[in-house]
Amino acid sequence: MQIVRGEYDRSKRLEVIGETDAKRREAVESAQKTIVEDAETGGRRNFLTYLVGALGTLFVATILYPIARYSYPPERKKKVSNSAIVGKDGEVPPNSGKIFKFNDLPVMVLNVNGEYTAFSAKCTHLGCLVQYDAKANNVWCACHNARYNNDGTKISGPQPADLQKYGVKVQDGNIIVFKA
Ligand code: FES
Repeated sequence: MQIVRGEYDRSKRLEVIGETDAKRREAVESAQKTIVEDAETGGRRNFLTYLVGALGTLFVATILYPIARYSYPPERKKKVSNSAIVGKDGEVPPNSGKIFKFNDLPVMVLNVNGEYTAFSAKCTHLGCLVQYDAKANNVWCACHNARYNNDGTKISGPQPADLQKYGVKVQDGNIIVFKA
């Protein structure tokens, strides 16, 4: 069919519209495909990000854990004895007292005219160390003027209780303190 210039060619118009529609459809399909691919790629990327993060955390933890263990070692259980040699007989002359360590605690050993007594050296008021007052012949805490008998029994002062008492004996020239 011959087309005269300016004349409307319906078939050509439809052809053009068909082509345009096909192109549009192609474009939409392509865009949809891209979205789906992006979603899949994004999912993979997220997974990889998490994986790298987790591995990084694990790596840092394996470095920090030994450092933390070294810096804060677990508390060792202290060995508690029922009795122990704390010193030599001559270390506590008559009418004097001396503080020794027993199970890591300060223990006062008194020798009054050859008679030994032992008790905690930590005042039961606020924990100051007590001392033997030879002049008054009793045990004194200088912090707030507490007084105890030579066996650790409370006499006067702000302290709420007696000093914890221990047994003591001299054997083979050694002073042995034991739980009473
Ligand atoms: S701590 Fe000993 S009297 Fe206060």
